[in-house]
Amino acid sequence: MAHDPQNLTHSTDVLVIGSGAAGLSVALRLAHKGKITVLSKAEVTEGSTFYAQGGIAAVLDENDTVDSHVEDTLIAGAGLCHEDAVRFTVEHSREAIEWLIERGVAFSKEDEHYHLTREGGHSQRRIIHSDDATGRAVSTTLVAAVQAEQNIEILENYIAVDLITGDKLGLDHSRCQGAYVLNLKEDRVETVRARFVVLATGGASKVYLYTSNPDVASGDGIAMAWRAGCSVANLEFNQFHPTCLYHPEARSFLITEALRGEGALLRRPNGERFMPEYDERAELAPRDIVARTIDHEVKKYGFDCVYLDISHKDPEFIKSHFPTIYKQCLGYGIDITIDAIPVVPAAHYTCGGVRVDTDSRTDIEGLYAVGEVAFTGLHGANRMASNSLLECLVYAQSAAQSIESAWETIAEPADIPAWDESQVTDSDEEIVLSHNWHELRQLMWDYVGIVRTDKRLQRAMRRIELLQQEIHEYYSNFKVSNDLVELRNLVLVAELIVKCAMQRKESRGLHFTLDYPELSTEIKDSVLKPS
Ligand code: FAD
Ligand code: SIN
Repeated sequence: MAHDPQNLTHSTDVLVIGSGAAGLSVALRLAHKGKITVLSKAEVTEGSTFYAQGGIAAVLDENDTVDSHVEDTLIAGAGLCHEDAVRFTVEHSREAIEWLIERGVAFSKEDEHYHLTREGGHSQRRIIHSDDATGRAVSTTLVAAVQAEQNIEILENYIAVDLITGDKLGLDHSRCQGAYVLNLKEDRVETVRARFVVLATGGASKVYLYTSNPDVASGDGIAMAWRAGCSVANLEFNQFHPTCLYHPEARSFLITEALRGEGALLRRPNGERFMPEYDERAELAPRDIVARTIDHEVKKYGFDCVYLDISHKDPEFIKSHFPTIYKQCLGYGIDITIDAIPVVPAAHYTCGGVRVDTDSRTDIEGLYAVGEVAFTGLHGANRMASNSLLECLVYAQSAAQSIESAWETIAEPADIPAWDESQVTDSDEEIVLSHNWHELRQLMWDYVGIVRTDKRLQRAMRRIELLQQEIHEYYSNFKVSNDLVELRNLVLVAELIVKCAMQRKESRGLHFTLDYPELSTEIKDSVLKPS
């Protein structure tokens, strides 16, 4: 990759924005073709991928079938999955896992065979995993593979600010030409020119006050794509994971659904089980149902939390299957071989996103979106557990194939003017950012959470509009910073989530509203297009 220190311009063949499972897989699959630049706004491993626990769903057992995995996904998705996307993903699942094994990911084995666990919504054992730290195994293996590739350069601590399209440059087409990126170490905006751009920026669950996600999940890719002219869909379906650790010192620590898959039970503070009162699948009902039930129990009885109990299993089994959770909880004084774990739901996964086709192409030529940032149609109204890492891997491959087939026909990108900072100064009021950041996440939690109403959504929208004015003003007057870029993106994503939620006059999957508690007979996505 050429780097011109004078003009602060990088030129590359493919700019991949994001270094999780999606971004690194695209990069590795294209490394033989030319220069690939991967941006990571924090350390290269920091992202949801690293923290994934349960595993990756795939048809690997001889008693399992593609049809069964497809059917389970369709049921969990509450009628809104695109069946073609589901089938496409599941049919490629074995290949995706074999690709990871070839790269060196060490999945857990029992008696020489890969151990498959169960999670909610799955009628079979089909989750391949690496103990209870699957994401760490995937992330560290892919990072090592990428670091060994000469053609791939990783730019850590670089946050993409905005995409650059032909029409913004006054060209007669809108093809994506690259991005403006903030070099966080040098505190300056640089330009990346690229023939192809891949958004692999992950989800937006940071828009909620309580989340299982790391800080980087601020919806940057969705916001950048929207500003560049891409349509988005189904953002009202933000998944809340039922069981995050409830402890004053624990920040964003998930208790994997695989615990329930291996027999853990949900209990009220007095020790009573409650899930069988709500759903015959009990603790293994799809996530939307379990999270909503916990929310209901907590609010109805005024509990601080409920309890997840696996203490009836053999202590050695618990320690060997869930070593990370065992150690982490012990650090907080909870011995999970004896004690039930205090848990609450928290925002976990963005089912909607930037609309793409099965080649991962967005509405903008030359711009792809892969992983949690994308809306492929796979998840419908509720993602089934462990289908998301699978989606990252399968769609990374299709994006790479699509880019490869267009490789020879795409010319060098246009010259891009340097970032203009002549009208802005250093910020004098950082407090505005932290205040607005907190206010936004609190209002999303209070008004756009697990249970919604029209009134709550309207209330949320009024506050979001006010915040947007302030943040826009701030963005126009002051130099960009990491926090400002993220907040500007989060407030936009919040607006899009609420707009999608307002369109949906029914309760389906993760979108539950007291005003329309029934399913509508009309089955459609909530699609938003920039005007
Ligand atoms: P991420 O892994 O989140 O990576 C996003 C990348 O984009 C990061 O490198 C980040 O720095 C970068 N980035 C973002 N914005 C910018 C920007 N503006 N400029 C530059 N870089 C940027 N799914 C499963 O299938 N199985 C599981 O067991 C599982 N467990 C989970 C447990 C936890 C605690 C969490 C949070 C999620 C879990 N999920 C699981 C979901 C799954 O991990 C994610 O959906 C998936 O890892 C997303 O991968 P990704 O590559 O799209 O994004
Ligand atoms: C978990 O391990 O419970 C998370 C799985 C997922 O989000 O797919």
